[in-house]
Amino acid sequence: MRLKDKVALISGSGSGIGEATAKRLAAEGAAVVVVDLNEEGATRVAGEIRSAGGTAEALVANVGNPPEVEHMIKFATDKFGQLDILHNNAIRLYTGRVGEMTLEHFRKAVEIGLTAYWYATRCALGVMVPRRKGAIINTGSVSGLAGDYGLGAYNAIKAGVINLTRATAIESARKGLRCHAVCPGIILTPPILKSRRALPEMAQRSEQAVPMGRCGEPIEIANVVLFLASDEASYVTGTCIVADGGLMAHTGMPSITGGGADW
Ligand SMILES: NC(=O)c1ccc[n+]([C@@H]2O[C@H](COP(=O)([O-])OP(=O)(O)OC[C@H]3O[C@@H](n4cnc5c(N)ncnc54)[C@H](O)[C@@H]3O)[C@@H](O)[C@H]2O)c1
Repeated sequence: MRLKDKVALISGSGSGIGEATAKRLAAEGAAVVVVDLNEEGATRVAGEIRSAGGTAEALVANVGNPPEVEHMIKFATDKFGQLDILHNNAIRLYTGRVGEMTLEHFRKAVEIGLTAYWYATRCALGVMVPRRKGAIINTGSVSGLAGDYGLGAYNAIKAGVINLTRATAIESARKGLRCHAVCPGIILTPPILKSRRALPEMAQRSEQAVPMGRCGEPIEIANVVLFLASDEASYVTGTCIVADGGLMAHTGMPSITGGGADW
């Protein structure tokens, strides 16, 4: 058991990557607080963890609302006595071109996708620093490392999450804490599966852009989070681990071989 006696709180764990991570961490012995805005999702995931023999509590909270963030950290420490792992992962995706999206749209995206990550980090530091123990993991994205058409707000917040990770890491490194970002590529979670059904041609093209030729599964991100959360990552901090089937390793240029080109 790689996380025996650890307590983890994962936001947005009623679905997708957060759900897979909650289950993976619980299977390795962590007591997990499953936080989600969606009550059905949070209750279901916590119930499934308990049915599998793990320890979990569901909490309905909106991470965009600071008092609810304060409450979720207190909930974890009240229920389980400590907090060892915070995984900031919840998101509400806003799409739209940079020249077209509204001010309200951009502000909302920042509120849930970046401000909420910082505020939960701030609250978690309050309980982790005195114990000189803890790992904070932020879900970034390959979209925080390069731009996407129609995802400008998302690109901005994910880049912010990655650099917030670095700042948190250096400031807390001598206090015994670690902070990491995991940057997934295209992962088959419910919103992605839904968009693939609606736009099958785009789904096929995005899959072709991945050198491995396939999208990732939520468990493949959960496994990275597990490593970062565990003591096996004791000398790792401030890094951003990309798990994208090789997507970011490619410039985007087409192949220059096999086309009969004469150099
Ligand atoms: N799926 C991908 O391809 C992909 C790629 C890169 C990064 N990511 C990142 O992974 C994370 C999880 O995404 P996912 O694909 O698993 O999505 P998902 O929709 O399956 O899960 C997100 C969960 O967050 C919850 N949530 C939304 N707003 C919330 C709020 N204000 N407070 C609390 N909970 C809230 C939702 O109810 C949902 O259960 C996000 O940060 C996303 O940006 C996903």
